[in-house]
Amino acid sequence: MSYVRRSPRMNGSQASSLVRNAPRYLIDGLAREEDREPQFAPQPPIDWTPMFGRDAPLVVEVGTGAGETLTAAAAARPEVNFVGFEVFERALGSAMILLENAGLHNVRLLHGDALSGLEFLFAPRSISEVWTFFPDPWPKSRHAKRRLVSAEFAALVASRLVDGGVWRLATDWDGYVEHILEVLTPINEFELVDTERFGLRPLTKFEGRGVAAGRTIHDFCYRVVDAHA
Ligand SMILES: C[S@@+](CC[C@H](N)C(=O)[O-])C[C@H]1O[C@@H](n2cnc3c(N)ncnc32)[C@H](O)[C@@H]1O
Repeated sequence: MSYVRRSPRMNGSQASSLVRNAPRYLIDGLAREEDREPQFAPQPPIDWTPMFGRDAPLVVEVGTGAGETLTAAAAARPEVNFVGFEVFERALGSAMILLENAGLHNVRLLHGDALSGLEFLFAPRSISEVWTFFPDPWPKSRHAKRRLVSAEFAALVASRLVDGGVWRLATDWDGYVEHILEVLTPINEFELVDTERFGLRPLTKFEGRGVAAGRTIHDFCYRVVDAHA
């Protein structure tokens, strides 16, 4: 049985998109932690070459949301294989409408938590780029431990990136800028190589709301160095 089922807050077009598009875009049949649904259970990593029908550089987006970035990037870079992680089914439904309308074949989606997913579904040194654009900010200090960017997550990203691979991030929260710098600056495996806006990143609805609220957008590109020495 498919893991994806209609959730109460899903609208009709998201639900019908899931039914129509899941066989094409959504990777099914993965082992999950039974009592912690979004989490993937230990299992052998996915062999991405047969999954895409070709060997190509792999870019993994964490927190795909409505799929605007993944769709724009995959259309602009047909020679790259893209994988998106997202915990919300309704967002996956929306993302698959964009992918379907763009007729893309170089994208697959994973429904679930990216922390356990990166650990269990990707072999070490297998990913060219990891993208984390506008992670949920969790601005209250008592919620800070829920932030996706953490020393544990950073170590995992470093281990999954190929030599010279990069982790791109963007945020519209000043507190998250500080958080990213606090977490990543002490990690010798990462070198901050760029803070210009990433050219493949379109203006998503989420970013637009930040801009409309007067917030400044910050981009980061960290390259993994000496990670596998
Ligand atoms: C603020 S939204 C940004 C969405 C998109 N990246 C954009 O720029 O519009 C953050 C997204 O990350 C997803 N997310 C949060 N934690 C996650 C996790 N551990 N694994 C996968 N997705 C996650 C949320 O469900 C949400 O869709």
